[in-house]
Amino acid sequence: MCAKLEIIKADITTLSVDAIVNAANNSLLGGGGVDGAIHRQAGPQLLEECATLGGCPTGDAKITKGFRLPSRFVIHTVGPIWRGGSHNEPELLAGCYQSCFALAHQHHLKSLAFPSISTGAYGYPLEKACGIALREIQLAIKQYPELEKIVVACFDQKTLDVYQKIKSGLSGV
Ligand code: AR6
Repeated sequence: MCAKLEIIKADITTLSVDAIVNAANNSLLGGGGVDGAIHRQAGPQLLEECATLGGCPTGDAKITKGFRLPSRFVIHTVGPIWRGGSHNEPELLAGCYQSCFALAHQHHLKSLAFPSISTGAYGYPLEKACGIALREIQLAIKQYPELEKIVVACFDQKTLDVYQKIKSGLSGV
């Protein structure tokens, strides 16, 4: 299991995996952060396809093609905005990972890359979000044996340090 998870410092738009995950918003019509970077690299056809999807509820996910990206697909998920922690934020964030893995399974995908969902503009405390992310990734690796590689693409050193620290404290990841 350990060998299937890679935690790296990277711009997710450069990764050649079956699908990269986008930390989007409910409209799926683009934004800043990783969402902006993905749309810039994929080109305008991504926005055209997103516009046909009717948005996405928080905690859920939708899939599109990757267009000019090196990844074949983009899985767009919508993380919760942090509002103090008592507004279902942990369940919604876990739902993002679960929905992404369920879509990946339906599309027979074997390699996925995630950004640190909700920990930028949406303000989710990094250590809390990281704990949920790694727990859900660990569960999915067990649930879906066809998965070959899961990458967590950390954009900055602080995010990388936290993910590596929390991973080292989990058994079997
Ligand atoms: N590759 C990997 N990670 C990145 C990249 C990149 N190219 N760019 C930024 N990050 P955020 P959120 C990191 O704000 O908190 C958008 O406007 C970033 O440093 O992108 O879920 C959407 O449209 C941080 O660690 O997503 C929504 O409105 C992580 O990705 C809203 O922001 C998530 O930061 C979503 O907010």
